[in-house]
Amino acid sequence: MDSSPLPPDTVSVLFVCLGNICRSPLAEGVFRHRVESAGLGDRIRIDSAGTGGWHVGDPPDPRSRDVAAAHGVSLDGQSARRVAPDDFRTWDWIVAMDRSNLEDLTRLQERHGGDATLVLLRDFDPDPGDGEVPDPYYGGPGGFDRVFEMVDRSCAALLERIAEGA
Ligand code: 4NP
Repeated sequence: MDSSPLPPDTVSVLFVCLGNICRSPLAEGVFRHRVESAGLGDRIRIDSAGTGGWHVGDPPDPRSRDVAAAHGVSLDGQSARRVAPDDFRTWDWIVAMDRSNLEDLTRLQERHGGDATLVLLRDFDPDPGDGEVPDPYYGGPGGFDRVFEMVDRSCAALLERIAEGA
């Protein structure tokens, strides 16, 4: 991760799920693709992390890579890491995939401090369903297609919201 100081007009967004191999790497890749397409690559810093540490150092799950590639999005170069105490100080937005992730993040922020704004990704989804991006890890590949659609809609709306102030 690039941890160099941010220019004052830069916004930083960290996507978080449980394992950092399925949902949040997909959100990172989709959001980065949209940010770069909008010409905002030098204005918005992006990463992802997991609340759990089982997959630290692993690349994204092949099912996430496949559904991303089918939509022209690359997850190359990503490797799983765990949320760290400093994240709550060094990121503007920390974007959770489900309520369990959000609860874990809230507890960590209470313990470690920091001004990051914690939100659910589907808070931005124009078709938010139950408000969560479900964990597709133990399901079939159809789950990853549904997750892609939710993540893509939500990332488009999140970028619009951030671009208003970026
Ligand atoms: P993710 O999915 O949180 O979307 O990355 C999971 C990946 C691995 C595990 C759980 C969820 N796991 O228990 O190993």
